[in-house]
Amino acid sequence: MEKLVITGQTPLKGEVTISGAKNAAVAILPATLLIDGVCTIENIPNISDVKISCEILEKLGAKITWNTPNEITIDTRNINTTVAPLDLTRKFRASYYIVGAMLGRKGKIQVGMPGGCKLGARPIDQHIKGFEALGATVEVEKGNITATADKLVGNSVYMDVVSVGATINVMLSAVLAEGTTVIDNAAKEPHIVDVANFLNTMGADIRGAGTDIIKINGVKKLSGNSTYSVVPDQIEAGTFMLAAVASKGDILIKNCITKHLESITAKIIEVGGQVEDYGDSIRVWCDRRPGKANIKTLPYPGFPTDLQPQMGVVLSIAEGTSIINESIWESRFQYTEELNKMGAKITAQGKSAFFEGVDKLYSAPVYSTDLRAGAALIIAGIIAEGETEIYNLEHIDRGYENIEEKFRNLGAKIKRIKE
Ligand code: UD1
Repeated sequence: MEKLVITGQTPLKGEVTISGAKNAAVAILPATLLIDGVCTIENIPNISDVKISCEILEKLGAKITWNTPNEITIDTRNINTTVAPLDLTRKFRASYYIVGAMLGRKGKIQVGMPGGCKLGARPIDQHIKGFEALGATVEVEKGNITATADKLVGNSVYMDVVSVGATINVMLSAVLAEGTTVIDNAAKEPHIVDVANFLNTMGADIRGAGTDIIKINGVKKLSGNSTYSVVPDQIEAGTFMLAAVASKGDILIKNCITKHLESITAKIIEVGGQVEDYGDSIRVWCDRRPGKANIKTLPYPGFPTDLQPQMGVVLSIAEGTSIINESIWESRFQYTEELNKMGAKITAQGKSAFFEGVDKLYSAPVYSTDLRAGAALIIAGIIAEGETEIYNLEHIDRGYENIEEKFRNLGAKIKRIKE
C-alpha cells in the first residue's frame, strides 16, 4: 500500500505546467476505433485511466506505440473482436465510450458496466436513448452492456439531462451513421469540443460542439494519418489555482486555456485571491485569509463539480460561513468527513454543505474517497499544521500526472511512501 506524507504550512510558489485533459483523452482514445488507419495523439496525460484505455484498445486489436511518455501512435486497422475485456471496462467510467465507438466501427460490442468514482447513482439511460434513436439495440444484463446495430441512421436526440458522457457517446455513434444526427441540450464542456475537433481532424463532419445543439453529418470513413494534440486539463489547472489561494501562495500555471477557467477565476477573485490572465497561462496568488463564498456546481460554463472539493478546502479556512450546493453528484461531499478529521467544520446535508471557516487545519490520517477528493486532501495537507498522511492513492493516480512532483516543484514537502 502506498501513502502520501505531507508536511504542511507551505505557501506554494513557482511555475507548473498543466497536462493534457484526462476527460478528453479517455474519450479520444476510444474515438480512434472509428478510424480504419493510424493516428498520433500528443499531449496525452500519463495517468492510469489512460493506460487502462490503451489496454482495452489493445485487447480489441489496436496496436499502440508510446513514442514519448505523452505521445502515442495508434493503429486501428485490425480491430478483431466485439467483446471488450469486461474486467478492465468495469474499472473506470469512460469505458462507456467503447460502446458508441464500436457501434460505429463494427455495429456490435459487449462491455462491462462502467465503474469509476463512487459519486452517487451514475445512470447511462441518456447514452442508451441516443444509441436506440440511431437504430441500435442495447441490453444491460448481469453487469454487462451489449449493443448491436445492423445499420445506424442519423436522428434527432434530445438529452433529458445535460450529460458530458452521453453527448460524447452519441456523437461517437453518429460519426459513421447514415445521414444527420442532431443532439439537442448537449453538454458544452471543453473536452466535448476537443473530441469533436479530433474527429473532424480525422475526417468527421461535426458542427456546433461547445453549444447546446450539435449536428453530426455522417461520413463513410475516417481516414486517420493525422496528429492531434489533447486540450490542456481545465480541472488540473483549477486544482493548482485553488491550491495557490488555499496556501497563500503565488503560482504561474502554464499550458492552460484561461477561457475554460472563467468560473473558477471569478470565485477566486470573490474570496480575495488575485489573478493575472495571459491567455495560455494564468498567475494566481493570495496574500490574505480567503473570504467566504457561495458556490453552486453546474455544467460548463458553470462552476465544475470536479473542482468542488478543492474549492471546499479554500472555504474550510475562509473567514465566515460559506455554502456549497452540489447539483451534479449526490455523494460528492464524502471528502468533507476527511476534512473534518483535520479540524474543518463542515456540515453536509443532502445536496448542500455548510462551511464554517476555521483558522487552520491540522494533520490527520485521511482517505481519498474519489479522484477529486484526493486532490483536495493534498491541498489540505499542504496548508495543515503537522504531517498529514493520505491513503487510497489509486484514485488520485487515475487522473493526475506526476502530482507529487508537480506540487514538490512548487515547494510542497510531499513524499510517496510504500508500506
Ligand atoms: C463526466 C466526467 C466527470 C464529471 C462529470 C460532470 C468524464 C470521464 N467524467 O462524467 O469527471 O464529474 O462529467 O461534469 O468525462 N446522467 C443521467 N443519465 C445519463 C447520464 C448522466 O441521469 O445517462 C446524470 C448523472 O447522474 C449526473 C449528470 O447527469 O447527475 C451529469 O453526468 P455526466 O455529465 O454524464 O457525467 P459523466 O459523463 O459520467
